[in-house]
Amino acid sequence: MPCSITSDTLKDHVSVWEDAPFLQGTTRFEPQSDVNNIMITGGAGFIASWVVRHLARTYHGHYNIISFDKLDYCATLNNTAQLDKDSNFTFYKGDITKREDVMDCLRKHNVDTVMHFAAQTHVDLSFGNSNDFTSTNVVGTHALLECVKYHGVNKFIHVSTDEVYGEVKDDGKDLLEDALLLPTNPYAASKAAAEMYVEAYRKSFQVPAIVVRSNNVYGPHQFPEKVIPKFSMLLQRGQQLSLHGDGTHTRRYLYAGDAADAFDTILHKGQVGQVYNVGSSDEISNFTLCSMLLGQFGLSNETKEEVYKHVVHCEDRPFNDHRYAVDGSKLKQLGWQQNTTFADGLSTTVDWYRKYGGKWWGDISDRLAPFPTVPPEEHIERARNTELAISPARSKKNGKRGFDEVEGSPETKRRRENDHMDSVLGAIKA
Ligand SMILES: NC(=O)c1ccc[n+]([C@@H]2O[C@H](COP(=O)([O-])OP(=O)(O)OC[C@H]3O[C@@H](n4cnc5c(N)ncnc54)[C@H](O)[C@@H]3O)[C@@H](O)[C@H]2O)c1
Repeated sequence: MPCSITSDTLKDHVSVWEDAPFLQGTTRFEPQSDVNNIMITGGAGFIASWVVRHLARTYHGHYNIISFDKLDYCATLNNTAQLDKDSNFTFYKGDITKREDVMDCLRKHNVDTVMHFAAQTHVDLSFGNSNDFTSTNVVGTHALLECVKYHGVNKFIHVSTDEVYGEVKDDGKDLLEDALLLPTNPYAASKAAAEMYVEAYRKSFQVPAIVVRSNNVYGPHQFPEKVIPKFSMLLQRGQQLSLHGDGTHTRRYLYAGDAADAFDTILHKGQVGQVYNVGSSDEISNFTLCSMLLGQFGLSNETKEEVYKHVVHCEDRPFNDHRYAVDGSKLKQLGWQQNTTFADGLSTTVDWYRKYGGKWWGDISDRLAPFPTVPPEEHIERARNTELAISPARSKKNGKRGFDEVEGSPETKRRRENDHMDSVLGAIKA
């Protein structure tokens, strides 16, 4: 059932956030007259909570911010608890795959602008639970678009990722927004599929959509299943860093404050119908990242041997894009720039996790495993919810960590999966 969380409920919540710094972006634009009530999906997650905090504080008196989130395992109300007393902030507990939740929120808060961040986001998990990724990222986005088409909004900002382009060769050029989408993992495929729906709804039903494809974002408030917070938490616990493959894979990293500025810029200056890459100039290999993190903890990191002392090599992903490379000049033409150097951002981030990471999300020990597996209880709970019969024992037997096994013949599996999709799509039609 949808429900609004009141300030009393929040007061009872763990109060680790009370002495934490209030973190937001730096940009401010002339408030727009057709933007009043902004629904931000996934608002209790990492990037969206930065945007929620930034917009709520920067545009107080102009915009109301409604954070819409189902509070999945990676979310926490601590991410926005400092806004609890702000009159222009509301939290709405709802699920984007449930049409009744979305419609109720759109109507109750007279939403005129949607910024859609909610998603299943952990690539590692997508190799095992790809169904969850299709359900949330594709079917959820479809449900949201149906509701938005019916309700009507002035702007729909859809948050996608650089991963939709797939791998870029080491000597490959940075990709512009019109490059082909060639995703290589189930997460990226679900994000690319969601984009297809967004574009179709823009063309067919004039949903005023803008698509944003960002490089990797890092910073405080990110759930410690992703590499920077996870490695920081491992080092803090005196544990070894689990490095995928040979450590030569690179990612471009953007500090979350700069990402919040990018979304603020796109909200105020972006053109409907356009796609914007958000590019970082900091391309870092996983090995270099390990080395820099060791430095943050005062551990020797001068030579390969010194770094490897703190590293265990673990099984790589079934496919792991070696690098991504987007050209972000189109967004820069709107005035956005990357302000935070990787060294500064990393230092702020590590410092934050040392102080708050241990308590922010409760006990996260099971998420620090090398290639995260879904705990058996969660398998069973998900099986119950999706009506799929899942056997963790078989999963163990085939020796592939992180992989769900669905019991039954391929026919039975397909039928069950189709039934699940039908029930979700039925809710959209109802
Ligand atoms: N983190 C990155 O580096 C990165 C880079 C590029 C793009 N993105 C995109 O940015 C967006 C946010 O990513 P993030 O890393 O901050 O995510 P996150 O995993 O920290 O947060 C996702 C949020 O979505 C919520 N959510 C999940 N399913 C939902 C549902 N059915 N209904 C309502 N809420 C639901 C979760 O509770 C959580 O709060 C995603 O769309 C992701 O694909 C992320």
